Amino acid sequence: MDKLGIFELNKVYQGDCIELMKEIPDNSVDLIFADPPYNLQLNGELYRPNQTKVDAVDDEWDKFESFEEYDRFTYLWLKEAYRILKNSGSFWVIGTYHNIFRVGTILQNIGFWILNDIIWIKTNPMPNFKGTRFNNAHETLIWATKSKNSNYTFHYHSMKAMNDDLQMRSDWYLPICQGEERIKINGQKAHSTQKPSELLHRIIVSTSNPEDIVFDPFCGSGTTPAVAKRLGRRFLAFDKEELYIKITNERLAKIKPLDKRLLSYKIENKKPKVPFGNLIEKGYIKIGEYLYSKDKKFKALVFADGTIECDGIVGSIHKVSAKLLNKESFNGWSFWFVQRQDDFLNIDELRYDYERNFLKYKQNNDLFSAILPKNYLENSLNKMINKI
Ligand SMILES: C[S@@+](CC[C@H](N)C(=O)[O-])C[C@H]1O[C@@H](n2cnc3c(N)ncnc32)[C@H](O)[C@@H]1O
Repeated sequence: MDKLGIFELNKVYQGDCIELMKEIPDNSVDLIFADPPYNLQLNGELYRPNQTKVDAVDDEWDKFESFEEYDRFTYLWLKEAYRILKNSGSFWVIGTYHNIFRVGTILQNIGFWILNDIIWIKTNPMPNFKGTRFNNAHETLIWATKSKNSNYTFHYHSMKAMNDDLQMRSDWYLPICQGEERIKINGQKAHSTQKPSELLHRIIVSTSNPEDIVFDPFCGSGTTPAVAKRLGRRFLAFDKEELYIKITNERLAKIKPLDKRLLSYKIENKKPKVPFGNLIEKGYIKIGEYLYSKDKKFKALVFADGTIECDGIVGSIHKVSAKLLNKESFNGWSFWFVQRQDDFLNIDELRYDYERNFLKYKQNNDLFSAILPKNYLENSLNKMINKI
């Protein structure tokens, strides 16, 4: 069974997310999407010009005594989100002017590194009925990582292909959730803030991979788990309301994951692979130290020739992990961990670090060649030399 701490993956759980998140291990989640209460502070009921009542968000779960209380709540769930996110993971949070600036400040104070703020421009927003302000036609998403140096996933070329071969921009034009997609109970919206699936599709496709773990602490009607399941990701989601968990489970039961073949990223550049030996030669992994399995059940001694030995089994990181697990083959990069001061790190993270520090020139070159015409740099250089 696929588990994350005490939780079974591909399930939704009812409860306070701050408490439940404490049961998720450190550095274990690949992507977090959070759509927390907005603290809308609506005063009184809202009516259209024809005197019909507007279906506004006035749910109990969105009510806070004060900004201080909202900030305290925000700090507590963000701190847990930071702890459970992998160093290579992506964090997304959505909000409106009511809360997003407060959330943004707190997440930066905790240590998150902001990569983009995305403006979701609603192509069919609800009008400003009173005519006293501009029509509030967008929401803001913050995309962040755990640190500045995080080796996060971003499918740049796929996003470009999705956008008719133009770089995907930070303004996303998408409709609000309506029609068939909107879940209803007795003709009424089942959830007041159901997000459109398109939004989650773009987030999950751009910043995660199939089989990654996608987590949503405030899943509401279940948009995140539903889209994650369809896209072949593993997921875990929480909500404190029993009704929403029921709605999410009913929604999930109708979703069939897409065929694996349709989920590959054929257009993305393959990252250069750094073999295990390079980490030994560079001192990232010390000859004579131990590698550990995640649960520390196995420990393997590292030799100068790039082999490891565990319980009398000698071979590459892949061969030894496969033998220990009684499998034909296994990816040793995901099996072995090392202790570095207080951190218990997967050796793949050391490989990312090596790539970032020593393969940078190649990566930058790839980036330039994606943006500039072929031979642009070479031609410009030749022109400069000729001038001299
Ligand atoms: C903005 S809605 C999320 C809507 C969701 N993205 C969707 O597409 O349906 C926020 C959700 O957070 C839940 N919630 C509020 N406080 C919570 C808490 N402390 N723990 C878990 N869920 C909470 C509410 O019940 C509500 O469903």
